[in-house]
Amino acid sequence: MRNILIAGNWKMNMTVTEAAAFFKSFRIKKNDKVELLFCPPYVDLPMARFFLENSSIRWGAQNVYPEEKGAFTGEISPAMLKDLGCSYVICGHSERRQILGESDEFVARKVKAVLAVGMVPILCVGETAEERKLGQTEERIGSEIRTALFELSEEDAARLVIAYEPIWAIGSGTAATPADAEDISSFIRKTVKAVAGKKAAEAVRILYGGSVTDENIGDFLKEKDIDGGLVGGASLKAETFLSIYKKACE
Ligand code: 13P
Repeated sequence: MRNILIAGNWKMNMTVTEAAAFFKSFRIKKNDKVELLFCPPYVDLPMARFFLENSSIRWGAQNVYPEEKGAFTGEISPAMLKDLGCSYVICGHSERRQILGESDEFVARKVKAVLAVGMVPILCVGETAEERKLGQTEERIGSEIRTALFELSEEDAARLVIAYEPIWAIGSGTAATPADAEDISSFIRKTVKAVAGKKAAEAVRILYGGSVTDENIGDFLKEKDIDGGLVGGASLKAETFLSIYKKACE
């Protein structure tokens, strides 16, 4: 059985001072079937470790540079994140693909680099409103997944988390319907099966992201191929994020 993963992507929010105040008072009741994860900005990661290391809560990064070390000014390596106790790294979030021009190939390198040091990549995929209107959703997502999984062994592919985040639903207040999100999640699982094999397809965890709240998370989690949520705005409010976690534990 796949565990549920509730992940908070703080994006470019929360100074170190704000993060410290947040983590200091954030506690959950451990649940063996539900994992809770924070992906704060890089600078907040030492704070996350300081306050969360004796709890069941995990922390991870929002990005990484796919090289071991060297002359890459301003970048952060997989080993640096691992050393900070990160368990997960978000790879290829649509904001990075759109604003910073990250290609499917570059994202694929990140996925490999994260797996190579023993962390888990959260590969983000999703279509724009335009692609959805033109009926190109599966073509876009299929290509994002095939490129990212192309060179992975079945064991490595099985460790992946894939987040389906329709770009039009992010930060818009309008989430996909659970039925639509399930349709795409099932397509994602079939694509993983075709590229990496049946075992990988059964093990991969698929998250839904895009205007997730404590009101809609329960309905997404009822769907058979959805194993959690990647939460943006609602993860910045401790009370709401805690309420999302509690709904997932029900
Ligand atoms: P929102 O939950 O704010 O829509 O953001 C979703 C997201 O992009 C998480 O990675």
